[in-house]
Amino acid sequence: MATMTLEKIKKVYPNGFKAIHGVDLDIDDGEMIVLVGPSGCGKSTLLRMIAGLETISDGTLNIGGDRVNEKEPGERDIAWCSKTTRFIRT
Ligand SMILES: Nc1ncnc2c1ncn2[C@@H]1O[C@H](COP(=O)(O)OP(=O)(O)O)[C@@H](O)[C@H]1O
Ligand SMILES: [Mg+2]
Repeated sequence: MATMTLEKIKKVYPNGFKAIHGVDLDIDDGEMIVLVGPSGCGKSTLLRMIAGLETISDGTLNIGGDRVNEKEPGERDIAWCSKTTRFIRT
């Protein structure tokens, strides 16, 4: 486990779309957080940037005190499992 710090994280996709406008987040060792928001608000984009599956356009991502922006997914020593559930009221 390790601390994770996001400083002014931004994402601009190659087509110019600004998906993440500057996220600041401190997550302590062992802390659990939940990302909640409407479809298209940027949850997956943020998680993909943390995992290294998507480049970070601006800002700094620190894991365990080290900047990992330029590290490959396998070098970040983290794992990501994502599941989307839709709740339908009947
Ligand atoms: N490869 C891409 N190129 C351009 N826009 C994208 C791309 N991937 C996602 N987006 C846009 O970025 C926004 C955030 O998407 P996403 O992170 O998938 O949202 P969520 O996971 O919260 O539903 C959406 O408006 C989506 O259309
Ligand atoms: Mg998503």
